Amino acid sequence: MIKANKISKSFIRTKGESNIFYAVNEMDLEIEDGNFIIIIGKSGSGKTTLINMLSGLLTPSSGNVLINDTDIYSLNDKNRSLFRNKNIGFIPQGQTGLQNLTILENILLPTLIYEKDDKKDLAIKLLNDLDIIDLKDSYPNELSGGELRRMAIARAIIMNPSIIFADEPTGDLDEANTKIVLDILRKIANSGKTIIMVTHDKDAISYADIIYKMENGTIKKCD
Ligand SMILES: Nc1ncnc2c1ncn2[C@@H]1O[C@H](COP(=O)(O)OP(=O)(O)OP(=O)(O)O)[C@@H](O)[C@H]1O
Ligand SMILES: [Mg+2]
Repeated sequence: MIKANKISKSFIRTKGESNIFYAVNEMDLEIEDGNFIIIIGKSGSGKTTLINMLSGLLTPSSGNVLINDTDIYSLNDKNRSLFRNKNIGFIPQGQTGLQNLTILENILLPTLIYEKDDKKDLAIKLLNDLDIIDLKDSYPNELSGGELRRMAIARAIIMNPSIIFADEPTGDLDEANTKIVLDILRKIANSGKTIIMVTHDKDAISYADIIYKMENGTIKKCD
């Protein structure tokens, strides 16, 4: 269960005079386990800022975030990293990947940090499921945008987290790969995990249990 209590994120914007601007404004939100949540909304409405705060990546200017009753921003950096590594998978907007590691090594990265378990077999299975197995020994700069995105998805789910955040994970994928990714996320939600996905993709809507719309830093549930 994720619970946000009156979270805000403000930035100073300098345009002639400087003024305070709220990317997320005093938001309350409760998300039950096992749901596939989709967040839609115009560019700049605060979607990325919101999921960064919910996932422990960005400290709110005010308010707090509870994940399974843990107030994540009351933890110190090290304990919050540990908590995230155990409980949260994150598929970021844009491209990520450590350039001097292979695709397989990139995917295994989260498993090396705090766990001794060998997850190589699982990594290979995920590479197969996502149809990038032939690229396992390639490097990120040799992959297309869609291939890198699939690598990021494998890396986000390898630790079997109970919550997965995804920021436009199908943004640069073709129809076939979009379906592969949405099917995987749906299957994970069906197994009792929580998916929170930001998307502009109309085809994704039918996969969701609950749809929220963001507007100017606030959120409301759609019917
Ligand atoms: N670090 C920052 N400093 C200043 N302003 C910021 C910062 N991060 C985000 N913003 C502003 O906050 C607003 C919300 O940004 P955010 O990235 O959350 O939007 P978004 O809904 O994810 O948009 P998109 O659909 O384009 O990804 C934007 O107007 C953005 O310019
Ligand atoms: Mg965004």
